[in-house]
Amino acid sequence: MALPAGFLDELRARTPLSAVIGRRVRLAKSGRQWKGCCPFHGEKTPSFYVYEDHFHCFGCGVHGDAVSFVMQSQGATFPEAVQQLAAEAGMEVPKATPQAAAAERRRLDLHGVLEAAAIAYKRRLFLPEGAKALSYLRGRGLTEETIAAFGLGWSGEGRGALLAELARDEVTAEMLIESGLMREAEGGRPPYDLFFNRVMFPIRDRQARLISFGGRILGDGQPKYVNGPETPLFSKRRTLYALDRAREGARAGGIVAVVEGYMDVIALHQAGFKAAVAPLGTALTDEHLDVLWRLSPVPVLCFDGDAAGARAAVRSVELALPHLTPARGLKLATLPPGEDPDSLVRRHGPAGFQAVLDAARPLGDALFDLLHEGVNDLSPESRAAFRARLTEAAGRIADKSLGAEYRSMLIDRFYASRPRTRPAHGARDGNRFGRLGQPAPKPFTLARTAPGPGPATAERARHLVAILLGHPGLLHDVEEAFGSVPLPEALDRLRTAILQWGSAAEVLDSDALMTHLTATGLAADAAQALSAVPVPLAACAAPDAMPAEAEAGWWHFFGLMNPVRLEAEVAAAMADFARHADTTVERRLIALCAARNALRQGDMETEPEG
Ligand code: UTP
Ligand code: MN
Repeated sequence: MALPAGFLDELRARTPLSAVIGRRVRLAKSGRQWKGCCPFHGEKTPSFYVYEDHFHCFGCGVHGDAVSFVMQSQGATFPEAVQQLAAEAGMEVPKATPQAAAAERRRLDLHGVLEAAAIAYKRRLFLPEGAKALSYLRGRGLTEETIAAFGLGWSGEGRGALLAELARDEVTAEMLIESGLMREAEGGRPPYDLFFNRVMFPIRDRQARLISFGGRILGDGQPKYVNGPETPLFSKRRTLYALDRAREGARAGGIVAVVEGYMDVIALHQAGFKAAVAPLGTALTDEHLDVLWRLSPVPVLCFDGDAAGARAAVRSVELALPHLTPARGLKLATLPPGEDPDSLVRRHGPAGFQAVLDAARPLGDALFDLLHEGVNDLSPESRAAFRARLTEAAGRIADKSLGAEYRSMLIDRFYASRPRTRPAHGARDGNRFGRLGQPAPKPFTLARTAPGPGPATAERARHLVAILLGHPGLLHDVEEAFGSVPLPEALDRLRTAILQWGSAAEVLDSDALMTHLTATGLAADAAQALSAVPVPLAACAAPDAMPAEAEAGWWHFFGLMNPVRLEAEVAAAMADFARHADTTVERRLIALCAARNALRQGDMETEPEG
């Protein structure tokens, strides 16, 4: 929403903040400002102050102006809040520019096109051509009301049938392409349908405007689901399936539960869990979290009861940590192994899923257990490293007072936790290999590669780059993790160039990489990354280090920067290995375990700096 300069200033000037807030909070004059009990965290003594142009809570740290107050207290979007305040102030929200107004009109048109398609799909479901789809949906336990409520449909067989039908309403192929229902073909051939022979699931935004569709194949076949492409209306990063219905459900007191799939959401709503939502085949994003926190201060994320689910849980915790506030928390729930919410409620009824929700754990507990996993030995080094990981995790919570609470809660639990007497996790890993008939990996120590007193973050970052310069063969295994760490500018430039080169190069060879970097003007940056100044690189970063040593060393430095993610990578590698044990997978698992064990064997340098 691009507003003309000055509009928001004028709106703020015409909006008495104490009046806007005073409608929701009992305020008392305190000197030149107002003061009351914070509406965003439970408190009995007032620490919420309202000034002329902003509010601030000294208890929980919330802070903002009139627009953000309306957004936070009413769960409104920015445009909604602006609209409401402008109406109250007797101002009209201007359309920013003619272009913006035209874009807005086009968006409205696209909604119309999608609505017309939805009607056509729904109609087809009840024609003879849709009979198989209808009986498929009924066979999956959906009632007529559910099928109607979610607007499910049948795509038809494609071949331009949708365009032929909608052409009567003056819908053109261009409009269907722009709304993501058709694809442009090459070579002068006509555009073709994206969805054919699929059950259609309309996807609506928070205000129930139609923004895209998903389509499921009947029975088995690949891909199982097709989702509409990104369009001016539809962004997967932001969209949660059934959000419009879940808003109502949450308002009526339902627990906001995030599950994996379309059918899970639908089955849960039918079973009475009317605030269930799902991302659309993507991992959870920051934007999803924002959307969720507008529905509920503590949404529950549900994960599969397998290793992939555990890995997804770790990723979500990692994603959420920096954004937590007293008003923005999370719970984590785990499904019984082999079940998804759909199969669970079909087998055990609503009680089956209710039990999962009841067993959901607060994020803090889950975080502790996650970081505790495998710390079983009594050695002071191991305990100290564990304590450092707890402190590091709490330190990532940007909200200072909440971070301090997490820190003391985690440390309390740390002192309360007695090391268990079962064999150490390392030995269990060995058993896992043994059970699968693989040779147990030799104990691998990083003693030689681990740097002494502990390099600063910049040095860790430099090692990540330096190791890849000498061993670009690792790129495919580490590129996702590599892409996720913050790097200083020069290293970031190198990273971009290395990743680009890696995605195109036929052979991942160090000389070829150096030649490429020289050609792109990055020779000096590369030399700096490899230099013995300010401190010599660790042995694992030497160009002649053994590949296994370089790989384990890379993960070690990565783990120093992001221990939670390292745990996730280990969990993922174990799951891969359990599914499909070949030498590549095994090599990667060994490297990851070596790195993790080195971290756990208590190098004190995991203690955060500063
Ligand atoms: P699942 O494969 O777990 O399927 O995908 P599901 O939800 O249990 O589906 P049913 O019960 O077999 O119908 C979970 C979600 O991942 C996305 C979809 O959003 C799906 O609901 N997905 C899955 C895709 O986008 N494409 C696919 O090919 C598969
Ligand atoms: Mn399913």
